[in-house]
Amino acid sequence: MSVPVLTFFNNKGGVGKTSLVYHLSSMFSELGLKVVAVDLDAQANLTAAYLDEDKLENLWEQQSGPTTLYRAIEPLTRVGDIEEPSLVEVAPQLHLVPGDVALASFEDTLSEAWPASMGDNNLYRPFRILSSFWQIAQMAASQVEADIILVDVGPNLGAINRSVLIASDYVAIPLGADLFSLQGLKNLGPTLRSWRNLWKKRLDNWKSPAFELPQGRMNPLGYILQQHSVRLSRPVKAYDKWVNRMPAVYHDSVLQDSTIAVTPAEDVECLATLKHYRSLIPMGQETRKPIFKLTPADGAIGSHAQAVVDAYRDFKQLAEKLLERMKTTKSSLGTP
Ligand SMILES: Nc1ncnc2c1ncn2[C@@H]1O[C@H](COP(=O)(O)OP(=O)(O)OP(=O)(O)O)[C@@H](O)[C@H]1O
Ligand SMILES: [Mg+2]
Repeated sequence: MSVPVLTFFNNKGGVGKTSLVYHLSSMFSELGLKVVAVDLDAQANLTAAYLDEDKLENLWEQQSGPTTLYRAIEPLTRVGDIEEPSLVEVAPQLHLVPGDVALASFEDTLSEAWPASMGDNNLYRPFRILSSFWQIAQMAASQVEADIILVDVGPNLGAINRSVLIASDYVAIPLGADLFSLQGLKNLGPTLRSWRNLWKKRLDNWKSPAFELPQGRMNPLGYILQQHSVRLSRPVKAYDKWVNRMPAVYHDSVLQDSTIAVTPAEDVECLATLKHYRSLIPMGQETRKPIFKLTPADGAIGSHAQAVVDAYRDFKQLAEKLLERMKTTKSSLGTP
């Protein structure tokens, strides 16, 4: 039995993917789950959020051993195989598979393996490469008996993200409230569907796989609206204009259903509207804490203390909703 993989995905940058993985990993562990967070963005922002520069330097400069995800799969670029990754315990019940800027160089290896994974040639190696992220995530989860795997990715539709998505059972989509987010969302559904279908063809083609493979379900759990991505000077009317167009585009692009356009508040697919947490964000970054765990000693006094309580409630609700939808959702990416 594999452990479920939930990826926060949007090819648009800066919509809060890393921030969500960071805060929700922590909230899931607060709720009693054992969590593995996987940094599959070559920018390694998630890893940098958890670890200070000395620890990062140790991981990246260490001469040997699979101290990062890339190091655990790097033997595949030669004649070797995947190695058992070394995890970092970043909080009780919460482990990180650290990211690595060197991951970017794996893009070419994945691109070459994609066409080679169809046909009658020896499929072992291309499948080993294409499923390597999933294999590492599952190895990590079994080391610590994790209940859930959360994945952070970079903002693009390249070969790395294709391999992350075929490793994903569930996808949640953070969205900003602007024209760029709306246009990006229109491409998102068709891209995910195409990746899912091409992966399924490959699974069907390899009749007797020599090892377990991800199924590439990518079940969409819904979208999360991010108010922080809106320029503060912009009038509320402009925010409403873009936000109110998201439900119809999400249903059309991602779910391919014909739900009549509603506002996000009326749309079950809208998992949350996260507010701009303003000064809590730099406080959290400085103390390397989720914003909902800030204390007066960290500077969260007066109105900030109330904002911390509100943030705890917001992230708890979102985490519970995600768990509920993982259990019950029938949403899929639509027909092939
Ligand atoms: N709810 C929020 N309130 C205020 N600021 C936020 C919030 N969520 C994220 N941010 C800030 O917005 C910026 C972008 O967020 P984040 O790095 O999580 O986005 P991302 O989608 O991972 O970006 P990238 O595509 O570059 O990986 C960061 O500086 C982050 O601290
Ligand atoms: Mg990021």
